[in-house]
Amino acid sequence: MDNSILTLTVLRPEMREALIEYAAEFRAAGEDRYAYITAEMDWEKYAVLLHRLDADSRNEGLPVGRVPQSVYFLVRDGGFIIGSSRLRHTLTPLLEQEGGHIGYDVRPSQRGKGYATLLLALTLEEARSLGLKSVLVTCDDDNYASARVIEKNGGKLLNKVVPEDSNQLVRRYWIDL
Ligand SMILES: CC(C)(COP(=O)(O)OP(=O)(O)OC[C@H]1O[C@@H](n2cnc3c(N)ncnc32)[C@H](O)[C@@H]1OP(=O)(O)O)[C@@H](O)C(=O)NCCC(=O)NCCS
Repeated sequence: MDNSILTLTVLRPEMREALIEYAAEFRAAGEDRYAYITAEMDWEKYAVLLHRLDADSRNEGLPVGRVPQSVYFLVRDGGFIIGSSRLRHTLTPLLEQEGGHIGYDVRPSQRGKGYATLLLALTLEEARSLGLKSVLVTCDDDNYASARVIEKNGGKLLNKVVPEDSNQLVRRYWIDL
């Protein structure tokens, strides 16, 4: 990590191009987690996304079965998106098995530099601000990097489970806040 200014922020209107560029890097690396964000996302579609993320975080108009969620971005020098996290305010039975309270990703070119560890630490502060006393964070058993990120943030391994409709072993960690 260098001396750049890093901030955690919700998605803001001026971040449209940075978000498109962030998504494009995942696509170029063969990772489809931001497939819905393309260069065709014009201002109108972007405004819908901004509104939806804001409404989701305030528990407004959520479909049945969806819990409130806040989405954050780790941004360098006010513009370049390094990573993103999703903080679910409560758990569903499915999230209790896999998914947990927090998910995160770092763009491929910025991995292995400690950013995910920082991103999770900053997201845990947001969870604390929401009043959560502990959070569940999960990762695939073979996702060594993610397991290290969780452990370096105080994660205590609860157990490993194979969720329904899956054959993937998942590690479940609790982090006290
Ligand atoms: C998992 C992920 C978020 C890690 O991001 P990152 O910024 O590279 O993580 P960090 O730099 O903070 O590294 C954390 C630890 O993982 C290790 N690590 C990072 N990449 C690694 C790799 N490819 N193989 C093995 N270890 C790795 C680091 O060495 C570090 O451990 P250490 O402190 O013992 O050295 C990133 O790889 C990613 O976005 N993957 C795709 C999405 C994903 O899997 N998200 C998590 C879902 S649970």
